Order: sequence, then structure tokens, then C-alpha cells
Amino acid sequence: MAPRTSLTLRKQGFLCETFVLLLKSRSLADRRYFGGWLRSLFAYDIKKDARKDAHSSLLAKKATSGLYEIQFHNVKPECLEAYNNLSDEVHRELHSNADYPCEVAGSWNTWYGEQDQAVHLWRYYGGYPVLTECLNKLRLSKAYLEFHRERSKMLISQRNQLLLEFSFWNQPVPRTGPNIYELRTYRLKPGSMIEWGNHWARAIKYRQNNNEAVGGFFTQIGELYVVHHLWAYTDLQSREETRNSAWLKEGWDASVHYTVPLIQSMESRILVPTKTSPLQ
Ligand SMILES: *[C@@H]1O[C@H](CO)[C@@H](O)[C@H](O)[C@H]1NC(C)=O
Repeated sequence: MAPRTSLTLRKQGFLCETFVLLLKSRSLADRRYFGGWLRSLFAYDIKKDARKDAHSSLLAKKATSGLYEIQFHNVKPECLEAYNNLSDEVHRELHSNADYPCEVAGSWNTWYGEQDQAVHLWRYYGGYPVLTECLNKLRLSKAYLEFHRERSKMLISQRNQLLLEFSFWNQPVPRTGPNIYELRTYRLKPGSMIEWGNHWARAIKYRQNNNEAVGGFFTQIGELYVVHHLWAYTDLQSREETRNSAWLKEGWDASVHYTVPLIQSMESRILVPTKTSPLQ
């Protein structure tokens, strides 16, 4: 990362690190503040004794982790190829330009799920200050505005969400392919995010056999109480086998038993990486 960026990082502070500090803090005042903050965010019922370990397992972030944005672009079917060409080119440029502290963690087209859809996962190292810095710079970039204009002609609709990363999930790091990806999206009952994180912090160990766990996120802005789990498999058959093998492990069934009642609705998409996606 460019020195200027790390300076910004240090100066402005980092949201996730603040979480960790608050979690580690033992003073009563801090704990009260934090408890109130959490209750307001997650409508968390402090009386549930069984959830005492939930805060840290859900929120303690690695210092290196950042803020993510997921974009869903519904593309006119006849434009998908041109859209991919254009996006690939611009993403590659942004990626290699140290002036923009954002990068594409992964880029895909849906194969099963909504058709003619592009999904992009962006990472902003350093949280909200960096996100703002990046957006301000892009707004001033002639080339980017031109790209934006071209791209909007190809779109039917678009949607995005700002995401934080669950601490107990792997960070999405580049992988070699070929892989297919599954994005499983869960809309949770409001107030159940802490409980969800608490169960998944244990459940994730049953789902590492084939290095299939890529990333786990929850929404901060956009539609709320939404969780995205991203998995990689060599193909649909191996997806089936990998998922089935989890049921042979003691403990997985309990995790499913406790998490399913927290779900309002869910959706699964099978994604195929675009040419330049770091996750192949
Ligand atoms: C997309 O790029 C490929 C390879 O560079 C090229 O062959 C193809 O014609 C392009 N398609 C469109 C619609 O621009």
C-alpha cells in the first residue's frame, strides 16, 4: 500500500479496530456504552446468558481487514460480453493504480440464480475514510466517469451493499482456478445477527475440508440483516460432495438446527469468475 494510504489509515483510525478496543475494554462505563451500542445495532437481548461469548466472536476484526462493497448489476442480455470486457479493463487499471485504495476481491457472472447478472466484490482497506477518499477520487476521474456512462447504457438495474467481514471467516484472498463459486445470501430475522455469528463461529470449522470457505460478510448499509457466505468448489459435483461430507461431522447438524430458525429467506447463486477476477 502507498505510504500516503497507511498515513490516512493511522490518522483517521479504523472502525473495526475500535470494535476490538471496545471489546477488550474492561471498564464498566465502556462496557455499558458498548452494550447499548450493540443493543441498538443488533437489538441484542443481554439477558440471554448463552450468548455471552457472542460479541467478540462476531465482531473482533483482524486489523488488516477492510470494508467491502458488493455490487449486483443486471445487464442487458445482449450486452453482457461488452460489459465484461469494459469492467475487466477498468478493474485492472484501478487494481494496479496505487492512488486508489480500493481493489476488486472478486468478479463474477451468475450461472444459476438471476441470469445476465454481474457480481463484484470490492475491498476498501481502512474502512469508511478510505471508501470516501476513493469515491471522491473516482468522481473526479474523467476516464471513470466515461466508463460509468458507457456502463449505464448496458444495465437494466443495479444494487449495492456495504459489508463487514465476519472475524471467524477466511479473508477472500486470490485463488487459482478453475472454480465455481456459490454466493449464499441469508435474510435474517432482525435482531438475530449476533446469534447467527455465534453459531457460525463454531460451524465454520466443519466447512474447511476442501478449502471451500472464501468469505463471510454481513451488511452495514443497504438491505440490513443480510449475510453473504461465499464458497468455492471445483465444480457442481464437488460442491454436492463437499456439502454432504459436512453432515458426517458431529456438530454440523446442531449448527444447522440452531441457525435455520434465524432465517427469513435465503438465496443461492452459482457464479463463474470473469477473466480478470483475482478469485478464479
Ligand atoms: C470482448 O473481448 C474479446 C477478447 O478481447 C473480443 O474478442 C470480443 O470481440 C469482445 N466483445 C465485445 C462485445 O466487445
